[in-house]
Amino acid sequence: MATQKTLNGLFFDTLKDIYFAEKQILKTLPKMARAAQSEEGKAGFLQHRDETQGHIERLEQVFEILGKPARGKTCEAIQGIIAEGEEIIEDFKGSIALDAGLISSAQAVEHYEMARYGTLIAWAEQLGLKDAVPLLRANLTEEEATDKKLTKLAQSQANSKAAKAA
Ligand SMILES: [Fe+2]
Ligand SMILES: [Fe+2]
Repeated sequence: MATQKTLNGLFFDTLKDIYFAEKQILKTLPKMARAAQSEEGKAGFLQHRDETQGHIERLEQVFEILGKPARGKTCEAIQGIIAEGEEIIEDFKGSIALDAGLISSAQAVEHYEMARYGTLIAWAEQLGLKDAVPLLRANLTEEEATDKKLTKLAQSQANSKAAKAA
């Protein structure tokens, strides 16, 4: 059946988009943890990997609330952001700037997720999907906390380290 051209349809499509994105992110975070040079960076990526597993489970609960099967829809935006991150790993491996680059690409991921969850929360409220709102909000809160931790890591260590040879 074609997607309804209504807010319901938009909500469902966007839910599938972020579900696909979260699954891609789940696969990418261990690679970022392996690539990171600082112990704090490695630990941070692994912690967010575990949180991301939780994001996927909460999204599955939202699909359940809608009475629909949990299925992703290819999200080219996240594929592009992840591809850029892989390019940074490739181009900057072994260099003092690697962690600063990794953090920048992780923050692009977090901001994509924050944009999606912000929209989904507003639409769930408009649609009266009361049980979906706290699930989506819980995901958004963890994305925002991760983004703040990344900023702190960049400002306290990675950026100054990357600038050393300059
Ligand atoms: Fe997430
Ligand atoms: Fe995230």
